[in-house]
This record gives sequence, C-alpha cells and structure tokens, in this order.
Amino acid sequence: MEYLGTFPAGFTELVKRLIERDTSLQKFLFYDESVIALRSERPLTRLPYLKNLYPLIAWGRAKDLQSAYQLVLHTSFQKALTFSAEPNSRQNFVIRLFIEGKPAPIIRELHEKLEKAIMEVLGGRPNSERPDLELQLHLRKNQQCYLIVQKGKRSEEELPAGTLPPYLCRLLLELSNPQRDDIFLDPFMGSAALPLERARMGPYQMIFAGDIKTEKVEALKTILKQKQWEKRRKTIFPKVLDATQLERFKDDFITRIVSDPPWGLYEGLDMQAILELYSNFLREAARLLSKNGRMVLLVGSGVPLPEIFSNSDIPLKIIEQFPVLVSGQKALVYVIIPE
Ligand SMILES: C[S@@+](CC[C@H](N)C(=O)[O-])C[C@H]1O[C@@H](n2cnc3c(N)ncnc32)[C@H](O)[C@@H]1O
Repeated sequence: MEYLGTFPAGFTELVKRLIERDTSLQKFLFYDESVIALRSERPLTRLPYLKNLYPLIAWGRAKDLQSAYQLVLHTSFQKALTFSAEPNSRQNFVIRLFIEGKPAPIIRELHEKLEKAIMEVLGGRPNSERPDLELQLHLRKNQQCYLIVQKGKRSEEELPAGTLPPYLCRLLLELSNPQRDDIFLDPFMGSAALPLERARMGPYQMIFAGDIKTEKVEALKTILKQKQWEKRRKTIFPKVLDATQLERFKDDFITRIVSDPPWGLYEGLDMQAILELYSNFLREAARLLSKNGRMVLLVGSGVPLPEIFSNSDIPLKIIEQFPVLVSGQKALVYVIIPE
C-alpha cells in the first residue's frame, strides 16, 4: 500500500525517523518540506504526528497541470483506488486540483477523461455537491505530482487561536525523547494541548501543567473531570504559576520540559519584556532540569533565543534547532539540554 502524509513545514527529518520506527516501511517514494509518500507492507490508518494520511493512488513528475492529468490517465491506478475506496459501493466522487497546495481550475477535456476513468472503477458518478469521496490531484513546486483520496472528514482543526494541534504536539513531544519515568512540565500550557498529548502518548511518572492565568488552569481541571481522564488524572497536576519563578519545584526535579512560551505577537510584549521573560524562565529551567533532562521549545522567529544564551551564563545549551511554519507563522524549534 502507498500513502501520502502531510505535516507542518520543517519537520521532514523527524517525520522520516518516526515513520521508519513505527511502520512496516518498504521505502519512501518522495518527500518535501511538508509532505511524505511511502510504501508500507501493512495497511496504515493513522500516524499521530501526521496532520493527514491519505491512500496514494498515482504519482510521478509533471511540469504543469496538463501533464499531471496525462500522467494519472496513463497510470494504472485502478488497483490502488479499488483498495482504498470500498469496491462496488457506487461511490459518488469529486476530483479537485491543487497547485502548490492552492485550489486550481480544471482543464475540462482532461478532467472529463479522468472522471470517466474513475467512474469505471468506482461505479459512482461525479458529484461535487455531495461526494462520498474526494480525489485530489496535486502538483507541487518541485514538479512532484500525485493523486490521493480523501475519505471522511479532513482533520481540519477547529481549535481556538493559539492552541497547538495534536499532531504538532506529538512532533514536539517526540523530540523530547519521552521516557516512562518522566516528570514532565509545561509551564506555559495555555489550553494544555502539550501536557494532555504527553499523557495520551504513553507512560510517564508525573505531569505538571502550569499557566499564569487562573482560568486556563481551571479549564484544565474541568477537562480532567471527564471520564476519559479518570485513570490518569491523579498523575496530572494543574498549577497556577509564573514560569519565571518556579521555586515550588526543587533543583533537578524535572526530566522533560516541552513548551510553547508566548511569542510576543498576541500579548503585545515589547522586545525588552520578551528578553526578560525568556531569560528568567530559562534560568529557572536550568535549575529544575535533571542532569539527563531535555527541553523542547517552540518559539516565534522574532525571539532571539541563541542571543539570550550567548549573552548570559545560563547553564543550558541548544543541541538542535530548526525553522518550521506553524499556521503560516515562522517559528523555530529548539532542543535544549543542561550544559
Ligand atoms: C503561546 S501560549 C501557549 C499555547 C499552548 N501551547 C496551547 O496549545 O494552547 C502561552 C501561554 O503562556 C501563558 N503565560 C504568559 N506568561 C506566563 C508566565 N510568566 N508564566 C506562566 N504562564 C505564562 C499565557 O497565559 C498563555 O496561556
């Protein structure tokens, strides 16, 4: 089976590593900064660090939309489509086109040919109003072209502004190299997306989730009252706290910090306030982190984290840093360990 996964731009290397770890991968077919295609021995349903995972029906290289249509029309995609679309169920479908991720207009004559070829496989009819299946023909800027099938609803996040989607939380948490005896802290938790995803991800010892705003902490307490959290709620500790003054935790107590501190954009913080917030928090983080501890931070590109380190004597060092795009905003991910 062949699949295409999507993820936030910038995470390709990590995504490759995780797919190699988690699937019966035969090989990667192609990838770029935000999509990856693979062949797997076993059928896959979902990988928690991917935004979406689609059955891949056809793929190749095309210099424009016309050659993208031609490529698909000359590929024997019947088997892949039958496999992923419940055969003989007469599913109505729509084919949508995308160039570099943006919707593109169809080329009528070729579109009709492709619809006809797909009708022969699916039995259903083209129906853009109420399709059972959406097929997407994509042409990327590196001339990579592919046809995927979208079943059911897309994992379009309807999350409150600023909340990290679960797949992005997973990617950041994976970078922290989670361990079963983790004492985890997110001191800027907001909606608690990171701490809750860490709890779902696998064993840990304790999770501390803090925010300076009481209402955020109360909201987490309400979530933890839900039945699904019954077993884990005793090991998750919501706290109203100031991340720049964490004296409640003793030295070397915390093994992992994964956090998305304020980027200064929405809070209207000026550069001086940002520098102060980050230096004071990092000083506390250095004190709290155990010897083999690790911290992963997602930080807006306007926050000069490396300069903060080089202009201070905070005993932490950045071991990995890479640029990413989060909801269209430029950001950096830093992996940090005690020095
Ligand atoms: C970028 S948001 C975190 C968003 C979160 N990752 C999510 O998915 O919802 C930063 C959070 O830090 C909190 N905050 C700001 N200054 C703080 C401080 N000094 N100590 C603790 N929390 C703080 C804000 O209230 C906000 O909820």
